[in-house]
Amino acid sequence: MKRTHTCGELTGKDINKKVTLCGWCSTRRDHGGVIFIDLRDRYGITQIVFDPSFNPESHKIAEKLGREDVIQVKGIVNQRKKGMENPKMHTGSIEVFAENIEILSEAATPPIEVDERVLAHEDTRLKYRYLDLRKQNMQHNILTRHKVTKSVRDYFDSLSFLEIETPILTKSTPEGARDYLVPSRISPGKFYALPQSPQIFKQLLMVSGFDRYFQIAKCFRDEDLRADRQPEFTQIDVEMSFVDEDDVMHAIEGMLKHVFRIVLNKDLKIPFPRLAYYEAVGKYGLDRPDTRFEMHLADVTEIVRHSNFEVFTKPVKQNGIVKCINAKGCAGFSRTIIEELTAFVAIYGSKGLAWMKVTDKGLESSIVKFFDEKIQKELMKAADAKKDDLLLFVTDTNHEIVNTALGNLRIELARRLKLLDQNHFNFVWIVDFPFFKKDDYDNWTFTHNPFSAPKPSHMEWLMKKQNITNILTTQYDVVLNGVEIGGGSIRNHKPEALQRVFEIMGYNEEEIEQKFGHVIEAFSYGAPPHGGIALGFDRLVAMITGNESIREVIAFPKNKAAESLMEAAPSEVSEKQLQELHIKLDFVRDTVNVVLGKIKDVLNREKIEYEVLEHKPVFTSKEAAEVRGTELKQGTKALICKTEEGFIQAVVSGANELDIDKLQKLTLYKKIELANAKEVRQATGCNIGSVPPFGNLFGLKVYFDKSVVDNDVVAFNAGQHTKSIKMKAKDLVKVVNPIVGEFGK
Ligand code: AMO
Ligand code: AMP
Repeated sequence: MKRTHTCGELTGKDINKKVTLCGWCSTRRDHGGVIFIDLRDRYGITQIVFDPSFNPESHKIAEKLGREDVIQVKGIVNQRKKGMENPKMHTGSIEVFAENIEILSEAATPPIEVDERVLAHEDTRLKYRYLDLRKQNMQHNILTRHKVTKSVRDYFDSLSFLEIETPILTKSTPEGARDYLVPSRISPGKFYALPQSPQIFKQLLMVSGFDRYFQIAKCFRDEDLRADRQPEFTQIDVEMSFVDEDDVMHAIEGMLKHVFRIVLNKDLKIPFPRLAYYEAVGKYGLDRPDTRFEMHLADVTEIVRHSNFEVFTKPVKQNGIVKCINAKGCAGFSRTIIEELTAFVAIYGSKGLAWMKVTDKGLESSIVKFFDEKIQKELMKAADAKKDDLLLFVTDTNHEIVNTALGNLRIELARRLKLLDQNHFNFVWIVDFPFFKKDDYDNWTFTHNPFSAPKPSHMEWLMKKQNITNILTTQYDVVLNGVEIGGGSIRNHKPEALQRVFEIMGYNEEEIEQKFGHVIEAFSYGAPPHGGIALGFDRLVAMITGNESIREVIAFPKNKAAESLMEAAPSEVSEKQLQELHIKLDFVRDTVNVVLGKIKDVLNREKIEYEVLEHKPVFTSKEAAEVRGTELKQGTKALICKTEEGFIQAVVSGANELDIDKLQKLTLYKKIELANAKEVRQATGCNIGSVPPFGNLFGLKVYFDKSVVDNDVVAFNAGQHTKSIKMKAKDLVKVVNPIVGEFGK
């Protein structure tokens, strides 16, 4: 071994020992001839002293040492001088007097500081992740992740669960996201899908009689990324035979209790409370409630129904609702803050935010005059309003908008009022979810998992395909401090019942056979009743370590654009590789007519409705809106931007301008500038001003500003100044599949 001890090990008990340490030079201080080095490894830091009177040769070498050089030091452990001790460090009472030093590896100047207190752009951190991971907080995160993994494995092992690996190259599983596909070389034109979860395999393992399965499993989902979503992430995946909901929930409560005790020395109270889905949404606005604080939503629809405030009464007449939250003690909020909150709820689709302050004299606000005294009293009572409170109201005909807007506002207020205690872990189970919901095209789809069983008392409705809206599933989600950390269900193990689920979702017999035939067949050979769950492992570790983003607890995560900046993935591949896979890329870098044709092809193939408009040549958004008879904001400015890694497309509405700073924050590119006319042609083959928001057809990564998506209908030039396409914004998003963010102004 090159070392006798680690850098976190030596204490007062080791005085006078001859030791050899290895590590990185964290800091170097030159104190009038004597040089002090903080030598660092993953276990800690030890102070090394190079004294010219003690050993002139090593001192000479130490003079040249730079940050992050890797060295080996031989020396003697000494007590630190009085007053020089550092009681906060395990090694703080000693230092090692160097007798010999060897430089094992010289370090170039690091592009980021190996010090978590020095903030670096996440982009740079990810590009140099191996340096970023040297930071103490990152080492702590990764170490904690390991401890969680180990305690999970120990817990399940002690209860006779078997860890069984399932395939990565497989067939698409319906978890609701897009699949990552892998082309097959041996079967040209065919693809594997990377698993969105091991769902089908773990159920088949139950059919095989393995009875209790778990796996720390990698899952892959091609979806829009956020702080708590990664394209590849890890689940603690569990399945059990001969169980009901309570058995699975108890097993998971036991696991979490074990993990929190081992990793945080915290004693969780189990069982966790349970909340029905409709109750959670009613009270908290969201089905992943943060129960660390109250501020419940109050439904005041009936109270205001007969007021004179049209903003409320109009939606109520159309079956809308009005809900309110009481921001306790916030009557002092300035106009500016209320404007900020109004902008905040607008993100969730709310058209406004009405408010009333509570004073000595009762309610006060410009709208109070529309509510008679009786209504005001009832409002105060419903909201439990006291002096100095602020009541905030949202109304809409779409109930979901009201709930999500106020549900998220509730969290935002708690953040501002510092009500969120990071050391407090509030778990809650959400149960009684509806089984089906309507998708954007008015077809039935599953809310969670098509393999779930309905509540036993609702099985009859499922079999008869009746009362579909009211069928509840056995699904249970576990939520921690407002974050969904897991979900599962009892499965539908009867082939006929499973068949019904797929029929309700509009699959024909052939599709059912092709997609799920193997599961339905397996169930026909004797399937035990079974159920399971999967926990988002990265989310759990992030919560345990107090991190907002799961990227902080993954050694090598992807950025928000699903790229790994370190090794530059995804990347182009050689022509030879493509040929072997029989893949021909379908980007347009051609003349104008081709662009319109390509777009039409895509839209026709996806059976999407659109209109082609022919008009006089237009060159600005304003001219275009006039000739098309559309609003300015319904146009799109499909801008080609140049970044350090090539071209991207950023699309804002015709009424907005591009805010490059915001785009930079979203995309993490260091350099973004608008491409000039020549570059636009080079990137798309189109002339400036006629580029459609279909950057994907040109092989460009596409970003849409929210202003585009907010439209019902959009219209844009389709490769020519005289031709436009008009279509639904939501269809455009579907076919272009952009990253949606906010970068307009
Ligand atoms: P579900 O899709 O709810 O269930 O996923 C389980 C948990 O995984 C976490 N999660 C994610 N974490 C990081 N990045 C992502 N992109 C991501 N997507 C999901 C969440 C979520 O609660 N097969 C079912 C489970 C079952 O029924 O047994 C499933 O995968 O914390
Ligand atoms: P207006 O009449 O549009 O000026 O709106 C009067 C007040 O009602 C303002 O404070 C708006 O923010 C608020 N308001 C408008 N629409 C809504 C809505 N859908 N929900 C709640 N408040 C709203």
